[in-house]
Amino acid sequence: MTTFSFLETDDLSTAEIEGLFAQASQIKKDFLQYRYFRESSFSASANQKLLLSLLFFEPSTRTRSSFEMAALRMGWTASFFDGASKEGTSLIKGETFEDTFWTLHAMGPNILVVRCGDELKLEVLKKTSQIPILNAGYGTHSHPTQALLDVFTMRESYSSLQGRRILFVGDVRHSRVAKSHFRLLPRFGAEVGVVGPENFMQNLPANVQQFQNLQEALPWADVVVGLRVQLERHGEALAFSRDQYIQNFQIQKSHGDLLKPTALLFHPGPVNWGLELNPNVRELPHFKMWQQKQNGVFVRAALLDLVAKKNGY
Ligand code: CP
Repeated sequence: MTTFSFLETDDLSTAEIEGLFAQASQIKKDFLQYRYFRESSFSASANQKLLLSLLFFEPSTRTRSSFEMAALRMGWTASFFDGASKEGTSLIKGETFEDTFWTLHAMGPNILVVRCGDELKLEVLKKTSQIPILNAGYGTHSHPTQALLDVFTMRESYSSLQGRRILFVGDVRHSRVAKSHFRLLPRFGAEVGVVGPENFMQNLPANVQQFQNLQEALPWADVVVGLRVQLERHGEALAFSRDQYIQNFQIQKSHGDLLKPTALLFHPGPVNWGLELNPNVRELPHFKMWQQKQNGVFVRAALLDLVAKKNGY
């Protein structure tokens, strides 16, 4: 049996994603009623005592915790390796990221959830790994589970995304979330737009529409996704004026007048409050960030179940 890894949303057919969303909906419904996950929501993997290994070389709150909580609520166990702080691991002694990956692989978890930058090549590791790898955020390339949970959350408000317009605001260039969405959203019939400083845009796909300012972009959108300005990835080469960014691209409560009444305002988190979002956006009825966070647990639980099933667990 070939090992099935999940590195990008393209690894699943649209029918499989629809099935995953239906399952996540059921898990959520059960959870809101009973406050625990019911075994009947899962195909075969709940309470099998599968072991999830979380191997994170970059910091995380949402992705790590939602994978861990999903696994624990499914009756699995989870083990976290903190490769982001390095202290307390053999990375500090010069062990490579790749050797670290293979060390954890050798210990035999059932699934490896990996967050990393370009130090690891997930698409290469996938070819020889005998343990399924799940992409939990890969450099500036991809963050497929975030894209899945975002689309799931959009569909709780819009039953279909056909013809819906999704706008990404800000640091598109460094956003792995936006890159995964550029691949996923068109599969559901959505149109994609971007707006932000010109030097925050790079290699946009042909089907992505670029706007010049928030005044023209916000009324266009059914969903607005504010992106974190990823200062840690800018380096010295990227000139960035915080004041100019705030003046031209910060989303504020007053922008509510430009939004459609039904529009949703998302942010994958973490937020630089006062930079890409003014704290007063929390007063807008459009603001759905906490719903995204909650849904992350249900969507990732459904994904764990699917990956377990596809690997014969
Ligand atoms: N959205 C997201 O990936 O958040 P974390 O970095 O906290 O996991």
